Amino acid sequence: MPEPARATEILPADEHGIARAASLLRAGELVAMPTETVYGLAGDARNADAVARIFAAKGRPAHNPLIVHLARMEDATKIADLPPAATRLAAHFWPGPLTLVAPLRAGHGLAPAVTAGLQTVALRLPAHPLARRLLQAFGGPLAAPSANPSGRISPTTAAHVTAGLSGRIAAVLDGGPCRVGLESSIIGFEGPRAVMLREGGVSREDVEAVLGEALQARDAAQITAPGQLASHYAPRARLRLDVRDPAPDEFWIGFGPDCPGAALSLSESGDLAEAATRLFAVLHEADTRADCIAVAPVPETGLGIAINDRLRRAAAPRGPVKGA
Ligand code: TXA
Ligand code: MG
Repeated sequence: MPEPARATEILPADEHGIARAASLLRAGELVAMPTETVYGLAGDARNADAVARIFAAKGRPAHNPLIVHLARMEDATKIADLPPAATRLAAHFWPGPLTLVAPLRAGHGLAPAVTAGLQTVALRLPAHPLARRLLQAFGGPLAAPSANPSGRISPTTAAHVTAGLSGRIAAVLDGGPCRVGLESSIIGFEGPRAVMLREGGVSREDVEAVLGEALQARDAAQITAPGQLASHYAPRARLRLDVRDPAPDEFWIGFGPDCPGAALSLSESGDLAEAATRLFAVLHEADTRADCIAVAPVPETGLGIAINDRLRRAAAPRGPVKGA
């Protein structure tokens, strides 16, 4: 049975907003919270009903596991057995835009649907001050996928969240635009070796510098994170990449100083961090204004690797999008 539509509360970024969000979460309701990467659709990770609501609100397939958000490092070691390389990465990048996938510990207390029945769990300590305050006020683990209908563009403002999920979730804690703008990088482990499962807010080079070795290449045939499926982050409009000469009917998104006539730019100065921050907001806006979008080339270095990954998935041929 679909849940009846209800008004979604917009909560302010203050003590009252946080207290209200924490009390809704304790009651098993869903609250979208700002993180430094994108907005997350949070629910109590120990409560099977709350977790079921997350999958229903997003129209997310049940086989796609969720990331568990935590307030403290000690919380992570209660839930998962972190291999030594994970502990080193956590010490360096947490709180921040990095997710670690590690084997579940006995007595972890999570609802089984969070991990889609897997024996591993994805963990992250977000850096956003509001997410941290909310996690502390709530006092437990929060399962939180990106707060968008499954397969669509991720939200980097509260308005993006309500555009996709209004009436399907209890509240949105409005923390303004997200600083990083791309989802967390996800690292898993094959034995002692770290494997990049999803490119994201921490660059491959930065991870390799901390590990002191190259990240293992992921086996392309093996899809362990559905964020790796070809079509994801899909706008309504048709999208063409690496375009230097847009067609007259195309809404051109520029990058760098050499895109005169671009309708919008990811970064006029060619700054990849700025482009990452703006990527989803620019795609959301272009999608409301045009049927054909063209994007200028973005260099395949640093955060550009994750930006191009999202752009290629947004441009990929797609099947019917559930919940669209
Ligand atoms: O930045 C982020 O990571 C945001 C914010 C809200 O924290 N969250 C996010 O969640 O992007 P979501 O659900 O959109 O993406 C989570 C990804 C999915 O591709 C999922 O398949 C993968 O994490 N994942 C979760 N648990 C996993 C596991 N045990 N093994 C492999 N992949 C896993
Ligand atoms: Mg997502």
